[in-house]
Amino acid sequence: MERLRVGLVYGLLRAEERFLIAALEQRGAVVERLLDRQLRLDLTDPSPRYDVIVQRSVSQLRGLHLASIFEAWGVPVVNPTRILEICNDKLRTTALLAAAGIPQPRVLVAFSLEEAIAAADQLGYPVVIKPPLGSWGRLLARVHSRRAAEELLRHKRTLGGFHHGTIYIQEWVPKPGRDIRAFVVGEETICAIYRISTHWVTNTARGGRAANCPVTSELAELCGRVARTLGGGVLAVDILEHPERGFLVNEVNATMEFRNSIAPTGVDIPGHVADYVLAVAQTGQPASLAIARGAAAR
Ligand SMILES: Nc1ncnc2c1ncn2[C@@H]1O[C@H](COP(=O)(O)OP(=O)(O)O)[C@@H](O)[C@H]1O
Ligand SMILES: [Mg+2]
Repeated sequence: MERLRVGLVYGLLRAEERFLIAALEQRGAVVERLLDRQLRLDLTDPSPRYDVIVQRSVSQLRGLHLASIFEAWGVPVVNPTRILEICNDKLRTTALLAAAGIPQPRVLVAFSLEEAIAAADQLGYPVVIKPPLGSWGRLLARVHSRRAAEELLRHKRTLGGFHHGTIYIQEWVPKPGRDIRAFVVGEETICAIYRISTHWVTNTARGGRAANCPVTSELAELCGRVARTLGGGVLAVDILEHPERGFLVNEVNATMEFRNSIAPTGVDIPGHVADYVLAVAQTGQPASLAIARGAAAR
């Protein structure tokens, strides 16, 4: 059988990318490393040289644009532009998951200082104000009073760029000193971690510590619903535990980091992702992980 050709688009060769390359090569694929800033692509001369593209750019814009190009050339991309567009934007994620009836913290959106303050008043303090297009816990603010909200929003209006014109205001969730991050591949929750921190922002990029979180049927069912709503893919689902309302989905990440989660969970995350990617390469369609594993075994 011809070896499958995988193009791995990346900006930084982090542990994640190295693990993925090793897992794909172990499975017999030929992996071409595509450093995003060194690419020069002729849009008017399609050259679909790959069976599948793995999108690992750190820059969301580069990742999205490269995925768009390869999809236009008929090459399936993990994750596809449809998922990147939604997950890169917290507003679109919240709106889509809400339409599917998935439990989330309440979110109000406003476009002016006056309406944003009214929204924060309506939710009740504290609230969390976030840039809809951010990541790694940057520029998040927990705001305890109307006065603080006014000050923050004035700063945003003066200093913030284009993306700060949309104000995403979320209910504060009084969680138990930790969040849950679930790793979902082709609708299956392969493992999860608690992110434990003394700071309310628990991102491991900000010093949060990872510990294994058991994948209960409740967690797997919720994450399955999230994945089906988005249409499969390779996702990291962030969940907050509300003392009364239980699991609330906070956001979904489409270019997930997982290096700190392999040891605590004991799960071969890159191996599962590689099986899925190769199944997508063979079928051109998002596949369930069970089918992917079957294909890998053949
Ligand atoms: N409404 C909230 N209530 C409690 N904690 C929150 C809330 N929003 C964010 N956090 C904490 O901040 C972290 C980063 O927020 P998140 O929305 O995931 O943004 P980012 O895209 O920067 O990761 C979350 O993982 C969580 O620990
Ligand atoms: Mg997050």
